[in-house]
Amino acid sequence: MTTTVQLRTVDRVLIATIGNPPVNALNQATRQGLKEAIEAFQNDRNLAALVITGSERFFSAGADITEFTRAAQPPSIAGLIEMIEKSDRPVIAAVSGRALGGGLELALGCHLRVGTPSSRYALPESRLGLLPGVGGTQRLPRLIGPVEALKAVVSGDEIPAPRALELGLIDQIAQDDLIATAVTVGMGAKAGPPRAGAPLTVSAQTREAFDAEAARLLRRHRGQDAIEACVQAVRAALDGPLEAGLALERELFAKLEKGAQSRAMRHMFFAERRVGKLPASQRVPQRPASTAAVVGGGMMGRGIAMSLLDAGLQVTLIDVDETAAAKAVETIDRQYQRAIDKGALDAGQKTRRLQALSTAVDIAATAEADVVIEAVTESMAVKEKIFQQLGRHARAGAVLASNTSTLDLNRIAAASGRPGDVVGMHFFSPAHIMRLVEVIRGADTSLQTLDRALELVRRMKKIGVVVGVCDGFVGNRMIGKRSQQVDRLLLDGALPRQIDEAFTRFGFPMGPLAVNDMAGLDVAQAVRQSRGQVFPVADAICALGRYGQKTQAGYYRYEPGSRKPVDDPQITALIERVSAGQGVERREISEEEILDRTLLPVINEGFRVLKEGMACHADDIDVILVHGYGWPRWTGGPMFHAEQIGLRALCDKMQKLAETLDDPAFEPATLLRALADEGLSVRELSRRDLPA
Ligand code: 3HC
Repeated sequence: MTTTVQLRTVDRVLIATIGNPPVNALNQATRQGLKEAIEAFQNDRNLAALVITGSERFFSAGADITEFTRAAQPPSIAGLIEMIEKSDRPVIAAVSGRALGGGLELALGCHLRVGTPSSRYALPESRLGLLPGVGGTQRLPRLIGPVEALKAVVSGDEIPAPRALELGLIDQIAQDDLIATAVTVGMGAKAGPPRAGAPLTVSAQTREAFDAEAARLLRRHRGQDAIEACVQAVRAALDGPLEAGLALERELFAKLEKGAQSRAMRHMFFAERRVGKLPASQRVPQRPASTAAVVGGGMMGRGIAMSLLDAGLQVTLIDVDETAAAKAVETIDRQYQRAIDKGALDAGQKTRRLQALSTAVDIAATAEADVVIEAVTESMAVKEKIFQQLGRHARAGAVLASNTSTLDLNRIAAASGRPGDVVGMHFFSPAHIMRLVEVIRGADTSLQTLDRALELVRRMKKIGVVVGVCDGFVGNRMIGKRSQQVDRLLLDGALPRQIDEAFTRFGFPMGPLAVNDMAGLDVAQAVRQSRGQVFPVADAICALGRYGQKTQAGYYRYEPGSRKPVDDPQITALIERVSAGQGVERREISEEEILDRTLLPVINEGFRVLKEGMACHADDIDVILVHGYGWPRWTGGPMFHAEQIGLRALCDKMQKLAETLDDPAFEPATLLRALADEGLSVRELSRRDLPA
């Protein structure tokens, strides 16, 4: 018997407890343990039932993802389920915590399922670019119906116990002792006959609802192989017997597992967990922060305050006067009410959060805070003034964080007179929803400050990535490289819709021009002017007072109250005029050219960022671009994508573009060239502990 599955007997019921911390992944040893448990049950005719259970937090998080790159070792999860289904006595899954992926599929293969009131159920394989591979797509629809099953399989969302009971996913909720309840259920139950495995019989109406939902999901997740496979497999449950569905599911799983999209998404899974952790040698044990002050009650400040409240901190929100502060609290109240309306929060949680929130108008109110986050307007003069005051008022050892997205953190830190306490925390908007935070290490930021900032980010359930001080830090610096190319593409012959559609087809949620219209064209223009940059098309659009959605006109036009971009013949005419004015003969531009000219300079900048040590590893860059800028997760982020293209091919492609377009922006970065010449992978560069 392996040590990952422990056996004991209660009455005449054998209890097999999975104990493979941290998440009870079903690795080879655990599967072997479960096989031996089932065999022990089969061989002892005195036993009335077998109960499979896990730890308090995890029944099981599913297949061990680290085993995917290795040859499969028996026994398989599917094999275990087959043994269970053939049993003439009942096997019961007793679920505490989460049953995910292959873990839930194992539970679905049992004859009955009992859960604790807080247990949760999900098939999150699609988030790894896969589909449930051991019966989930066939057994779930047979239990809860095809429409609900399709939603669960595609979204990977967790289903809480009460809803799972309502749907028929579980048979009972144990009000007190889970095992005692499972034993009682086991003693009273009979194993059903082996599942007949007939196709699901559903009404024409259900089939219609299924088709509509499938079409909606395919539209929404266009280009994702896993979603197509999920739909295909669940549909098979409607069309044929269980065995045929299982065979199709196996075939689709094997194909996806080897495919580029799943490899990319598994890379992201591990990258997200690797980033934002200081090596043990650099960590400084300290008391976690319990009080925070946020300076600035604008949209960013409010979002940051909500994230801190959600993480259980006491928060003081400081704004210029009472009216502004009260308005900020009102808006936060409304946001929480909206969360209640959506079922994401309950009234008690809202009350507790609002009770933990206070306001002030004097920066001296930061004196008690363990951490102060400044979120005022992006102006060096204003920020310097605030940090001077913080240097005087904040208590010794408090973390002083600036939410700057572009300014020199070292100057801000110097103004405080205690730069060791200062760190950048670049949140993304809306800050209470977006998970990414670039944690900026200034020249003098102490390890203690950095560690506390990272710890705080984790408590807010966000992903922190440590970056160095440079213009735009990592994300804005890289994505900024596409703007100039977009303007040039418009000059050369492309139109806004064509560029945006190339991006959405690649997998971005929005194209760059729709994004610009949303953010405000005047904002980008001010940045360009401060840098002395000229973008002929963007400048001409701004000259007409078209600043995007807020003026109902930018690259597109907008109906009053609508955010839907509508093509505007005036813009087409204007772009054509600007091209003519610049002496450019417009030509047909292919989608491939659009993507090459806009994405390759972004990737190229990633290599410069790495060479300069502004990011510790290629993974850090991938996490930033995917979580902060909508880079499609299933391509693994820009650096992973670069490897898919091949560094040699990428280098050659860029060199060619540099020559044909006569544009030095396409000159391959030194590091890219060196790696390509030596045939090395960017992932082989050893991880730096900290950015330079
Ligand atoms: N296999 C291997 N390792 C896993 C794992 C898994 N299924 N799930 C989590 N881990 C590891 C993490 O990598 C992390 O390792 P680290 O400490 O070395 O970084 C550790 O367990 C703890 O994970 P988290 O930091 O993510 O802990 P949380 O408590 O925040 O979250 C979780 C736990 C919700 C289980 C989250 O880790 C998660 O979503 N895991 C993936 C679940 C999943 O996708 N399951 C399906 C797997 S595929 C499958 O079952 C195929 C089947 O259909 C055949």
